[in-house]
Formats: sequence, C-alpha cells, structure tokens
Amino acid sequence: MSTASPVTPEDAARWRDELDRDGRRLVFTSGCFDILHAGHVRYLRQARDLGDALIVALNSDDSVRRLKGPARPVNSQEDRAEVLLGLAAVDAVVIFDDDRTVALLRAIRPHIFAKGGDYTEETLHPAELAVLRETGAEIRILPEVRGRSTTTILSRMASPPPRLPRIGVLGSGNGSNFEAIAAAIDEQRLTAAMAVVISDNADARILERARRRNIPAVHVDPGPWRTRLGDAAQQEICRRLQDAGVDLVVCAGFMRILKEPILSAFAGRIVNIHPSLLPAFPGRSAIADALAAGVPETGCTVHLVDAGIDTGPVLAQSRVPVLPDDTEESLASRIHAAEHALLPAAIQDLLQRLAAPQTPSRSSSQG
Ligand code: GRF
Repeated sequence: MSTASPVTPEDAARWRDELDRDGRRLVFTSGCFDILHAGHVRYLRQARDLGDALIVALNSDDSVRRLKGPARPVNSQEDRAEVLLGLAAVDAVVIFDDDRTVALLRAIRPHIFAKGGDYTEETLHPAELAVLRETGAEIRILPEVRGRSTTTILSRMASPPPRLPRIGVLGSGNGSNFEAIAAAIDEQRLTAAMAVVISDNADARILERARRRNIPAVHVDPGPWRTRLGDAAQQEICRRLQDAGVDLVVCAGFMRILKEPILSAFAGRIVNIHPSLLPAFPGRSAIADALAAGVPETGCTVHLVDAGIDTGPVLAQSRVPVLPDDTEESLASRIHAAEHALLPAAIQDLLQRLAAPQTPSRSSSQG
C-alpha cells in the first residue's frame, strides 16, 4: 500500500493482514517528525530495511504540543504526513492522538516494532512493551543518529547570524578596486560587508558604482584645496565611517592624505592600495615614475596607512614585469589587474588577523 494521505488504523490493520498472507512483514515506528532532518531520513530508511513495508505512526498536533510544549509542532500534522509520505522509505502514515501507541499497536499488530537508539527495551513504556509481547512483535532498537535533532535546528535558527566585519571604502576616481572588493564579497572570497563608499569627488565613478550596488554612497566636500583634505572634511569622513559601523577603512584610489581624527579612530585598520612595489615610487605618479626609471619590474602594494605618504607597514605585494614596449596605459592596466586580485585577498587576511584572539603578551614578573 502506497498512499498519498494518512490511513486509518483499520486500513492499516487490513493492509498488515494482506502483507502477512503474502509472507511479508510490516515495520511500525512512531514519532513527531516535525522538521525533517538527515537523522530522521536515515532512521526511517533503516527501519524500512528491517522488513518489507513501513508504517509511521505520526503524533497528532495536540499530542506533539503535550509532549514538546506550546511552540511545537512547527508544521501541521497534515504537512508532516505529506513530507513523510514523500520519502521512499515510508509506505504509509497513520496519525494518532494518544500519548502512547498502545491502542494503535493492538489494532495494527505490526510484525516489527522499530524505535530510535535513545530507547532500550527496558525503557519502553510497560504498556507498550506488554502489547508488543502480546501481539508477538519483534522489537528492534535502531542506532541513534547523533547530533541531529529538530531542537538543535530550531535553536540554530533562533540565534542571530554572526556579525560581518564592515568595510568603508574611500576613493576619488574610477572605483575598479571597489568593484573587485564587492565582487569578492559576492563570491564569498571575502567575509565582510560593504558599509559605505565615500568620495571627495562628487562626480567620481566609484560613487556611481556604489549606488548601482545599493551601497550608501557619500560625497564629502574636501574644501577649497586641490590636493589637501581640510580639517572639516577629515572630521566628516571620520564621523561617516563611524556612523556606518565601519571596522576597516580601505583607501582605493583616494587621492588625499588622511589625518586626525581618522588615523587615531581607525588605528591599524586603514589600508591603501598603491601601484608600485613600495618603498619604490611612492606618491601620485608611481606608474609613470617606474617607467621613467626603466626598472624591469614594478607591481602593487597593500599597506597600512600611517601619517606619511605611502609609508605604512606593507601587508602584501604583487609583482608586475615592465615590458620593453610598455606605455603608461598598458603597464597601468596590468598593474590594475594585479591590484584587483591582491587587494581583496589582503583585506581578508587582515580581517582574519584582526578577529583572531590576541595572544597575551608575556609578563616578565612571575606570579
Ligand atoms: C589604483 O591604481 C590604486 O593603486 C591607486 O589608484 C588607483 C585606483 O583605481 N591608489 P580604481 O579607482 O580603484 O579603479
């Protein structure tokens, strides 16, 4: 008998007799099967393999509530039955309302009674044991499937997701490095969230790219200077980063020098990408300077930002050869490609280091 909906105890009993006439054996098991998990599926397959057909006695909604409290079941008895009947191992489902399966067992008289490994024959309810003995059912205890339960699934779902470290990007121009970071987040190469993009240039493409990705995009007026970032702007950027809950600041083509209060507020948590192998060729024209110097190779550097110009500790570098017929454009495009790989990876490394528990510094005094 393979049915699409639950059967009555009477139907189940008739089916048991048919199987019996054919020399086949009916396995019976019971449970709530609220949120079906791999433990259930494995258990039901093993139960089915004990005989020739499996009937599952499913606790009614009222009976689950009595057993597990008012928050359960999560799924109605109809839905739970439908899901069970979708399993290859389950041939029939019968819904029961009692606290025990005694009456059902007496009505159906299965050949085999299967129970999960958290029971032993001794801990079966005496009334259940009595009816099993009376009807001559074979009792089989199946190995417990450890670590899987509806209760653990529900508590995992109720716990808040881990907080992702939040990145704030500062950029003045194109924003291809911003795009590389965002892509790395999308592809889960970088475990972080993009919190805000800030630019000193209202027309910068980086702001447009951020808006297209629904990331807050902020223009901060740098003040009347061509290259300097005024004090008011330093303060506003700092406040914007803090308001966005930023943990790590990434300068990706930001063409002005950061000062206080940002340097202190984000000490050790500001990185910059620079298109040369620092300490060679710091400053604004690194690619042209490398070409003019005739070096055989250059590259890009991710470093921590300090008060100097491209002077902070180096975190990661990538080498790029200078080819004989390179122009500034051809060299720049190869350096950019290297940056797009280097920067997200360096950010991921740094975030992991920042998240790692600090090893306690050794004290010289012995206590
Ligand atoms: C990059 O070459 C970076 O090294 C330098 O500015 C450029 C920014 O490019 N600091 P983009 O705006 O990320 O496309």
